[in-house]
This record gives sequence, structure tokens and C-alpha cells, in this order.
Amino acid sequence: MKEMDTTRTPDFPVESIFVHRWSPRAFTLEPIPEEMIHQLFEAARWAPSCFNEQPWRFCYAITPEELVLFRSLLVDANRIWAENAPVLVIAFTKKNFTASGKSNRHALFDTGAAWMSLALQAMKLGLYTHAMAGIQTDKVYEALNIPDSEYEVICAIAIGKIGDPAQLPETLQTREHPSDRKPQTEFIYQGKFSPDKEE
Ligand SMILES: Cc1cc2nc3c(=O)[nH]c(=O)nc-3n(C[C@H](O)[C@H](O)[C@H](O)COP(=O)(O)O)c2cc1C
Repeated sequence: MKEMDTTRTPDFPVESIFVHRWSPRAFTLEPIPEEMIHQLFEAARWAPSCFNEQPWRFCYAITPEELVLFRSLLVDANRIWAENAPVLVIAFTKKNFTASGKSNRHALFDTGAAWMSLALQAMKLGLYTHAMAGIQTDKVYEALNIPDSEYEVICAIAIGKIGDPAQLPETLQTREHPSDRKPQTEFIYQGKFSPDKEE
């Protein structure tokens, strides 16, 4: 594993894994052992969810045939770099509660929690993740047999060991570094929300 990037500095002390997780585009093609892949999904498995519904669903690709299919579901701007990732995942969510059949308006929130657990577990294992909204969503339902009446496709996730930025097209090489964040003052409100603080 390469040296972790240390250019990010938190304003308050937190576990370094939160700060050092970032989304590279350069991955090595090195396959990830299947045991490790299950460790990632195990981390996702223990995420909290409304009524313990566990609405998250993941389809993953690791074989050459599966990877060809999953790559074809990305938009070109993502395929150009994500085609080096040895694992591709499509994250989707069950829209309604299983017990009541009622709409689960927290399904996306819960699936987001599961994805973050997966992303942090990946860091612990020396792997990196990169989520992608840029997918051909309509195609995904059909290609992966996901009924759109019951499930909502959210995004793809590339997973693998971090690669050499030199392998990327020049325009992407310049963006291959951890980004910064807004200060807390721009997103937390003691007591009531202050819309006037928003831009
Ligand atoms: C749901 C989601 C969708 C994203 N979609 C894309 C995408 O289509 N292409 C891309 O290059 N990055 C995508 N990203 C990566 C974000 O741009 C990135 O997480 C953000 O800029 C923060 O940077 P960091 O993850 O390196 O900390 C996405 C991230 C998330 C969580």
C-alpha cells in the first residue's frame, strides 16, 4: 500500500480514517481476495437502518465477464478511469418496508450509512473506494435484473488498491488528490436552522 496522504487537516481531532479516506481514480488491476470483498460487505451489513430494514443491496463484479458488463453501465467520463478497478459494485436500495409495504423514506439514508461503513472498512484493509453517480441508470435495472418497481439504483462504486496517477489522462491527473471540506460553521446550526447562512 502507498503512503497515506496527509495533506488533509481536521479542525478538531478525529480518527484519522475519516480524514484519510478519499476517492482516487487511479486503481491497480490487482485482484482483491474474495475474503476481503466479504469483509467489506460485512462492514456494510452492520450499519443501522430504520426499523432494521437493511434496505441496502449490492451487486458486485469481480470476474472478467462481470467487469465487462458493469463497466458498460458507467458513463464514459467514469469508465475512462474506473475500468482499472478490480471490483465494481452497483449500490441500490429497497424502496418499501418489507413488513408493511409502505414507502421507506429513509432507505437512501440507510444505504448511505452502509456504503460509508464499506468505504471505511476498505481503508482499514488498504483499499480505496470511489462512488459514481455517473452510471447509465436505466440500463442498470435491465442488465442486472433489478425490478424498478421495488428497488432504486443509486450509484456504482469502484474498489481496489490505489494506482499510479500517471496512468490517468492528464486532465484527471491534476485532480488526483484529496479534496478539502467546508468548515463546520457552514453546515451545523445550534438550535434552529438559519437559512440566511446558506449561499
Ligand atoms: C453518491 C456519490 C456519487 C459520486 N459520483 C461521482 C462520479 O460520478 N464521478 C466521480 O468521478 N466522482 C464521483 N463521486 C466522488 C465525489 O466527487 C467525491 O466523493 C467528493 O468530491 C469528495 O472527495 P473524496 O471522496 O475524495 O473525499 C461521487 C461520490 C458520491 C458519494
